[in-house]
Amino acid sequence: MKLETFNLERIQSEWEHRVEFNLSESGVEPLRIRELLDTPELKEQLFDTQLSYSQTNGTISLRQAIARQYNGIGVDNIIVSNGGAEANYLVTWRFFHENPSRQELVFMIPNYMQMSGVWKTLGGKVNTFRLKMDNKRWVPDIEELKAQVTEKTTAIAICNPNNPTGAIISDNDLDTIAEIAAEKDVWVISDEIYRGAELQEMKAPSMHGRYEKTIITSSLSKAYSLPGLRIGWAICPSELVAKELWSYSDYTTICPSKVSDWLASIALKPEVQAKIEKRTRQHIQENWSIMQKWLDAHSDLLECVQPSAAAICFIKQNTGIPSLDLVMRLIKEKNVLISPGEYFEMPGFIRIGFGSKREYLKQALERISEMLDSL
Ligand SMILES: Cc1ncc(COP(=O)(O)O)c(C=O)c1O
Repeated sequence: MKLETFNLERIQSEWEHRVEFNLSESGVEPLRIRELLDTPELKEQLFDTQLSYSQTNGTISLRQAIARQYNGIGVDNIIVSNGGAEANYLVTWRFFHENPSRQELVFMIPNYMQMSGVWKTLGGKVNTFRLKMDNKRWVPDIEELKAQVTEKTTAIAICNPNNPTGAIISDNDLDTIAEIAAEKDVWVISDEIYRGAELQEMKAPSMHGRYEKTIITSSLSKAYSLPGLRIGWAICPSELVAKELWSYSDYTTICPSKVSDWLASIALKPEVQAKIEKRTRQHIQENWSIMQKWLDAHSDLLECVQPSAAAICFIKQNTGIPSLDLVMRLIKEKNVLISPGEYFEMPGFIRIGFGSKREYLKQALERISEMLDSL
């Protein structure tokens, strides 16, 4: 087994807490515990929590709160994980073993490269299909997808809303992806971690409910501004699949943190969830206007399609310098971290996260401007 390095996470692990300005984050400014626990009773409950092992697939109350988000899903169709990252890992690991004669994954590009990296590390083959530019929108290349799905395919993996473009895949395209999957009897794995972080009022369409053999992964890290809780989940079409993923998790982290499980069920109380979603949307809308102004001021070097969701934008940069070199120069010379397109299999692009506090964002962008102006 040769490890396929997860370059995006590696550069963040190395630099995110060392640079002065970190614009590699894709979520919005995280919440504090005090913002969730706004009564003396709740604070007392936190202090009183016994630090024992928690229910290993997530407490019933948390799974009930998650189940409310997905029509027709019960608590036994859900496994709670340590972040979306663990959910993705468990699902990828489990589906790699689905059928030894089908060990190919069809993977959307650009993307958060975790599932592709794990699949390759396990010894599987990854075939890709791209989001292409159509009428100033990123849309899946359906013809390319059709060509990639064969008798050897186990699953099609998509990310919607998409990291790094912030594109939302339309209802029509999701239906078409489901039809293509059904035709070859393959699974669809849909990472929907940015659902709930849309710029518009309406939530992005989900893959849920379109096709039986679908697994959804998600977490509280992005739309709910709680990445430090490390709470994610997988939604399974049957109790059997959820149970299998649960068995795989006996080998990874055993259970979610007890404190996190409890805080997560508070965050998903309908009235709290609605407040957090509103905060996220407002934050993304306001910060996008800062971002857009900045992009306009650099239109000679930078081109970007407005994201529809997530606090990230994926920018074509025309500096003539490879994106990875530009990113390393920004770290060394300007103390700013952004993400290079190479790490999404899209050289020539950069990803900037704009979810931080406004003043911080403005100062960081100024540093990048200094670099761009000096080229
Ligand atoms: C598409 C996608 N999936 C999963 C993850 C991992 O999320 P978590 O922090 O919940 O583990 C990320 C993190 O950036 C992501 O962008």
